[in-house]
Amino acid sequence: MTPVVGTCPLGRQGLEVSRLGLGCMGMSQSYGPADRDESIATIRRALDLGVTFLDTASLYGDGHNEELVGEAIAGRRDEVQLASKFGLTRGDRRIDGRPETVRATAEASLRRLKVDVIDLYYQHRVDPEVPIEDTVGAMAELVRQGTVRHLGLSEASAASVRRAVAVHPISALQSEWSLWSRDLEAAGAGESVLDVAREHGIGIVPYSPLGRGFLTGAITSPDDFGADDFRRGHPRYSGDAFWANLRIVDALRAMAAEKHVRPAQLALAWVLARGPDVVPIPGTKRRTTLEENVAALPVELSATDLQRLDEIAPPGAAMGARNNNDGVYGDSPERAA
Ligand SMILES: NC(=O)c1ccc[n+]([C@@H]2O[C@H](COP(=O)([O-])OP(=O)(O)OC[C@H]3O[C@@H](n4cnc5c(N)ncnc54)[C@H](OP(=O)(O)O)[C@@H]3O)[C@@H](O)[C@H]2O)c1
Repeated sequence: MTPVVGTCPLGRQGLEVSRLGLGCMGMSQSYGPADRDESIATIRRALDLGVTFLDTASLYGDGHNEELVGEAIAGRRDEVQLASKFGLTRGDRRIDGRPETVRATAEASLRRLKVDVIDLYYQHRVDPEVPIEDTVGAMAELVRQGTVRHLGLSEASAASVRRAVAVHPISALQSEWSLWSRDLEAAGAGESVLDVAREHGIGIVPYSPLGRGFLTGAITSPDDFGADDFRRGHPRYSGDAFWANLRIVDALRAMAAEKHVRPAQLALAWVLARGPDVVPIPGTKRRTTLEENVAALPVELSATDLQRLDEIAPPGAAMGARNNNDGVYGDSPERAA
């Protein structure tokens, strides 16, 4: 079939990706049980639609996610821009940016993904114990060897981005960015991470662009989260914060109805409207949801629409920290500092 999603440059280092990516994390962890066959069918449907920028990590399901993605793309490797990450471990919840870990994790990821090269390889969290120059130096070695094509950082601070690009060009910065998580735009120490990334031609990859599902309007009670759901008990999705934050979603839902779109499509259109260098990676493990998200691409937002969305969710509107202070799934200790 003819893909409906086109491609675009991600940053200025020569990486071309689909205008919308697919986050694969939820197929292995975080948001309740996943059906393996449906997950694989979702990835293949994504490729059919032209959503070829796939996001995984060694962390996700302790390797399960990379194996799943590898199985789904078998025979179709050339269609895919494959992104993975190193540097977080699940069991002992450690951040590890040592050069030997960079090398060992990349080797293991290549094996699990059953590919010879990873298109975009991110440091998942900056390790406060290891100079970023050492970590990026080891990542650059992978580029020289030909097992990685482009380098990325996730949740790095402006200062870390500057130090990293002094060692090797960085193609992408992956950080949380959505209508209710706008820290990336905030000017800490006079400059926002976003501005520094753009100054260096780094493409922006917003993760959790749907607020981990909350901005879709599909979640209406804290009881919607199963016992092992990452969001259960999380400061932004529990207690008073849950109900306060639901008011943002109610306003989003009302505006979406007026525009004859779904709340998720409105939330995604807002992220896409941040600029042509911004490529979100909404996560889903279902084909129907993927298709709904792809249909956000043609949604046009006028200046008045954008102003209204800013009023619905101004920076800082969400109640409750976006991280759960474990340094693994939310802010890196470095970024939070
Ligand atoms: N770098 C990092 O530290 C980091 C952190 C978190 C995530 N990520 C990456 O970013 C990707 C996306 O983030 P995310 O998955 O955390 O959050 P997200 O994309 O904001 O939301 C995902 C959740 O929303 C649901 N959903 C998606 N589209 C929907 C729709 N149209 N209607 C109703 N529900 C919908 C999904 O449900 P179903 O799963 O049931 O379809 C899932 O529970 C991840 O998959 C991962 O690859 C990176």
